[in-house]
Amino acid sequence: MRLSLRFILPLGVALAVIAYAVVPLFDRLALQWFVRDLDDRSAIVARGLNDRLVDLLRAPSRTRIVGLIEQAVRQERVFALGVCTPEGKLAYASDRYPRSLGCAPTTNATENHIVRLAEGPVHVAVTPLEGERGELGALIVMHDMSFIERRSAETRMYLVYLFAAIAGIVALITVIIAELSWRGWVAGFKALVSGAGTESDAAKSRVPELRPIEADLKSLVRDLEAERSARDESQTSWGPDALRRILREDLKGDEILIVSNREPYLHVRREDNVIEIQRPASGLVTALEPVMRACSGTWIAHGAGSADRDAVDQYDRVMVPPDKPSYRIRRVWLTREEEQGYYYGFANEGLWPLCHIAHARPVFRVEDWEHYKTVNQRFADVVVDEARSEDPIVLVQDYHFALAPRMIRDRLPLATIITFWHIPWPNPEVFGILPWREEVLEGMLGSSILGFHTQFHCNNFFDTVDRFLEARVNRETYTITHGGEPTEVRRYPISIEWPPAALARQASIEECRRRVRERLNLAPDALLGVGVDRLDYTKGILERFLAVERMLELKPQWIGRFSFLQVAAPSRSSLDEYQNLEHRVRAAALRINNRFGRPGYLPIVLQIEHHTAEQVYELYRAAELCYVSSLHDGMNLVAKEFVAARDDEQGVLILSQFTGAARELVEALIVNPYDIQQCAVALDAALSMHPEEQRARMRSMRHLVQEFNVYRWAGRMLIDAARMRHRRRVLSRARSTRLAPTGTHG
Ligand code: F6P
Repeated sequence: MRLSLRFILPLGVALAVIAYAVVPLFDRLALQWFVRDLDDRSAIVARGLNDRLVDLLRAPSRTRIVGLIEQAVRQERVFALGVCTPEGKLAYASDRYPRSLGCAPTTNATENHIVRLAEGPVHVAVTPLEGERGELGALIVMHDMSFIERRSAETRMYLVYLFAAIAGIVALITVIIAELSWRGWVAGFKALVSGAGTESDAAKSRVPELRPIEADLKSLVRDLEAERSARDESQTSWGPDALRRILREDLKGDEILIVSNREPYLHVRREDNVIEIQRPASGLVTALEPVMRACSGTWIAHGAGSADRDAVDQYDRVMVPPDKPSYRIRRVWLTREEEQGYYYGFANEGLWPLCHIAHARPVFRVEDWEHYKTVNQRFADVVVDEARSEDPIVLVQDYHFALAPRMIRDRLPLATIITFWHIPWPNPEVFGILPWREEVLEGMLGSSILGFHTQFHCNNFFDTVDRFLEARVNRETYTITHGGEPTEVRRYPISIEWPPAALARQASIEECRRRVRERLNLAPDALLGVGVDRLDYTKGILERFLAVERMLELKPQWIGRFSFLQVAAPSRSSLDEYQNLEHRVRAAALRINNRFGRPGYLPIVLQIEHHTAEQVYELYRAAELCYVSSLHDGMNLVAKEFVAARDDEQGVLILSQFTGAARELVEALIVNPYDIQQCAVALDAALSMHPEEQRARMRSMRHLVQEFNVYRWAGRMLIDAARMRHRRRVLSRARSTRLAPTGTHG
């Protein structure tokens, strides 16, 4: 019934509006028809009386003239008649003629010649009386019009009945069709989601309207089923136990290897010669470290810490985390030239600006490319070295290793290789400028599964492969087949652990607020905004400062009351682009502070230095708002960390629309970071937001991050890996009995 109402109510309203507009129009038209009719009738009456009246007026006899008029009134069913002299005096008139109007009855008439009398409306026509020698005066004919009002009221009523009848009939037809279609859709939908019956049963119940979403629906159902079965029964949400269960039950304890450039723990020798363990500022590490803690296994990464070599064993391995060792890092050593060419050069001066729309021009050098290939091969060899089986699960991370999947596949054909691309993927036009585009794509298609944060990036990848490779791109099954080997291309939005480990060691919100304000020399009631990033040109730090400046211009009441703390971890600082950025960021902060600062008050506090996770969480908890203004970002985990840190359900997140996170955290204040005015308004809105609204928004975002946490991200990939491995085993068994179609890798 509610579905029918959804059709009927708008229909009823639309028809009522049409009726409301049409009835007065119809009234007006009917009146015009009647008036035209009365004009004609008046002319006929005047023509009929003209000659006799002209004769009588030559030898006027009041009795005969009045008699003629009264007779005409009766016979012609007119209301009244009057005869006027050429001088405009009423000479003769029938009984009911309103004498007060004299010979100018139309003075107060409407445009339709209607005059309102005490008896009701009358139509008036004035016709000259013409004799042989010219005009002898005028004949005034009046028709009663009250019947028109009666008819008009009746017509209105019939019109309303007509519209009601039309509405009823149309509504009935609509409801019947809607109900029938709905039943068809529901049946089709059920057939799709249940997947029950034979393929021909399913085909019979297939509804054409559902065809565009058929593939999405099936894959969604598959994901949900897999997720549901994988979830630890004792748990209400995804956590380390759920991951362990997948490893134990779905993957039968298969080994996991991670390959990434950045290592989760660096051993750094301080100036006082003490070795310190650092966690790098890296979204990748933030996400994968808790997964690795749950899964154990081996993490293969570049040993970049100054004391890394001192911490490893003879096989270049070290157990971590330091306080509770549960997995190992296998460090790979690079020469200075290799690091320069592969990491700084090809990865960060080439692929990084290529994949981000941040208007920095990519640089491609042949020598960088050579180093990139060499280092990818080195890591692939280490994977083979570390693998204890012929079919490990290898999680290849990011744009540093586009070639490694193919290289690993060549040496371990049965491995399940899941490559995750942590940054955006551009459209084919942009990607097309890469001199080694085919090699990069072919390298990536060595993966069994290729993951991106958003469907948009997956689609860009499909388009790119379509444009540059001889490959079969199947967008219904999200599969690309190149050289006979399929790669599933899927969306896996990354997240953070829930609850975050760094939160467990935090003081209360009040205490965090107090400590941070004290440390920054802010008044206890000062309002604080916070930005946490690597110092990278994609993060929009300059635009962020400009927005703060504009906000202080627009709303001077915040001067002296609001400060913005920007924490920026130094990153890739040997590159010119990053050094320039640092100069510009420092200069902008200085300029704004000179403009609005005063003794004891800085609008912008800039800290370009490394912060631990605990320090960052304390800042999140102490701030009124967190501002993420990336010009382009695959996901951005700072946004999710801020949400996770606010167990008081307070604080406002301002989030760039160009982050993957903006597709999930829709309750944030979503902004275009290039639109400085809009961002300034958002800052003001955040500072003025009522606590109840903050709570409602924050609660909903927290729910989402809790539910879609990093265990779920990793779990979904591992479940897909398990499904592939299971299928491969079934197919290879079938092949050995000569039953199978062509196989699949992974
Ligand atoms: O955002 C892409 C990315 O590789 C992340 O995965 C990581 O957080 C960040 O860049 C770190 O960059 P780098 O390792 O170069 O310091």
